[in-house]
Amino acid sequence: MDPKQKTEDVFAGFCPRFKSFATEAIHVGQEPEQWKSMAVVPPISLSTTFKQHAPGNHAGFEYSRSGNPTRNCLETAVAALDGAKYSLALASGLAATVTITHMLKSGDGIVCMDDVYGGTNRYFQRIATELGLQVAFADCTKPELVKAALKPNTKLVWIETPTNPTMKVVDIRACSDLIHEHNKDIVVVVDNTFMSAYFQRPLALGADICMYSATKYMNGHSDVVMGLVSTNREDLNERLRFLQNALGGVPSPFDCFLVNRGLKTLHLRMERHFKNAMGAAKFLEADPRVERVIFPGLPSHPQHEVMKKQCTGCPGMITFYIKGNLEHASTFLSNLKIFAIAESLGGYESLAEHPAIMTHASVPEKERCLLGISDTLIRLSVGLEDEADIIEDLRQALAAAHPTKN
Ligand SMILES: Cc1ncc(COP(=O)(O)O)c(C=O)c1O
Repeated sequence: MDPKQKTEDVFAGFCPRFKSFATEAIHVGQEPEQWKSMAVVPPISLSTTFKQHAPGNHAGFEYSRSGNPTRNCLETAVAALDGAKYSLALASGLAATVTITHMLKSGDGIVCMDDVYGGTNRYFQRIATELGLQVAFADCTKPELVKAALKPNTKLVWIETPTNPTMKVVDIRACSDLIHEHNKDIVVVVDNTFMSAYFQRPLALGADICMYSATKYMNGHSDVVMGLVSTNREDLNERLRFLQNALGGVPSPFDCFLVNRGLKTLHLRMERHFKNAMGAAKFLEADPRVERVIFPGLPSHPQHEVMKKQCTGCPGMITFYIKGNLEHASTFLSNLKIFAIAESLGGYESLAEHPAIMTHASVPEKERCLLGISDTLIRLSVGLEDEADIIEDLRQALAAAHPTKN
C-alpha cells in the first residue's frame, strides 16, 4: 500500500491540522538575530547570572531562575504551538502541577478528573489536602457529575484527556463552558500530555491553562524530565511567572535546549505514532487473546466522536485488557522484545507497562478497581519503529501468554 495514502486514512474525520504548525515549531523563538553570533541553533546559556549595565539596568536577564535565554527560546516556541500568548517551563510535569496549584489558598476547592496520572492523584490527595485544599474527584466525561462536584469554593478544575491509563476522553469545550457558566473565575486546566500540542489545543476549546509533562511527547526522546504551562490570560501568566521564580521549580538550560530541539520534529513524530498505534490497535482488537482494546482512534472507543471533534489525531497510547489473569499479563509483558517494560510514554521507543503494579500503584486499590485499572490491564506507548515489527512483537508475546489459544 502507498504509505502516503495510509497516513491520510488514519486522519480521516479528525480536525484539520493546525495551520503552519511545523513552520512555527522550527522557527518561532529561534531567530538567529537574537544572538551576537547569529547562531541558527539556540546556544545553551549556562550562566546563572547576567552582567548589568548599571544597577537594575539589564539586557532582559538577571538570574537564571527568573529567566534564561535558552528557556526563553523554548517558552516562546511552546506558546506559539499551543496558540497561547504565554508559556512557562518548569522542572517536571509535577512541578507544573504544584506551581499551578499554588495559585490557590487554604480552604479553596479543586475538582479533579477521576482518572488521572497516579502522581497527580497522589499530589492532590496526599499533599494538597494537607495544605488545606479540598479535593473532589469526578468523571468529567459526564457533565452532570462535573456540575454536582462544583462547590462555592471551587477555584480549579483539573482535566486530563485522554486519561491515563483508561483513555477516557473529555469534551473540553462542553466541560469548560459548563464550568465557566457556573463561575467564570474557576480556572480550567487541561493536562495535554498524552496529546501534545500537535493533536490538541485546549486553550482554543475554552480551557484557561494547558499543561504538559514535556517528559513525554513534547520532548519525545525519553531523555528529559520537564513540565510546560501555557495560557492566554495575562493575570494567570503574571501569577504563574511569579510562582515559577518564587517556588523555583525551573528546568536546566540544557534540558530546555533538548526539549526545544525535540519540538522541531513533533509533527513528524506524532503522525507516525498515530499510524503505528492504529495498526497495533486494529491488530489487538482482532485478536482472540485480547478482551478489550481502548484506543480513541478506533470507532469502538466510547468517545471516538468527541476525539474526532476536538483533536487533529491520536497519540500512540493504547490500553488493553488481556484475557486471563495477572500471570497472563505478566507473561505477555516479559516476552515483549521491541517494547521495553518501563514507565513513562511518548518517546520514540515503544514501551509497555502494567499500571496496577507500576504507574498507578500509588492510587488506592479500591479506586483502581472502580476505574478499571485491573490486573489484566496493559498500557502501551507505541513508538516510531516499523509498524510490522511492532505488530509482530505483540503477536509473539500474546502467543507466549496464551500458548493454548494459538
Ligand atoms: C498525564 C501526565 N501528567 C503529568 C505527569 C507528571 O509529569 P512528570 O513525570 O514530568 O513530573 C505524567 C507523568 O507520567 C503524566 O503521564
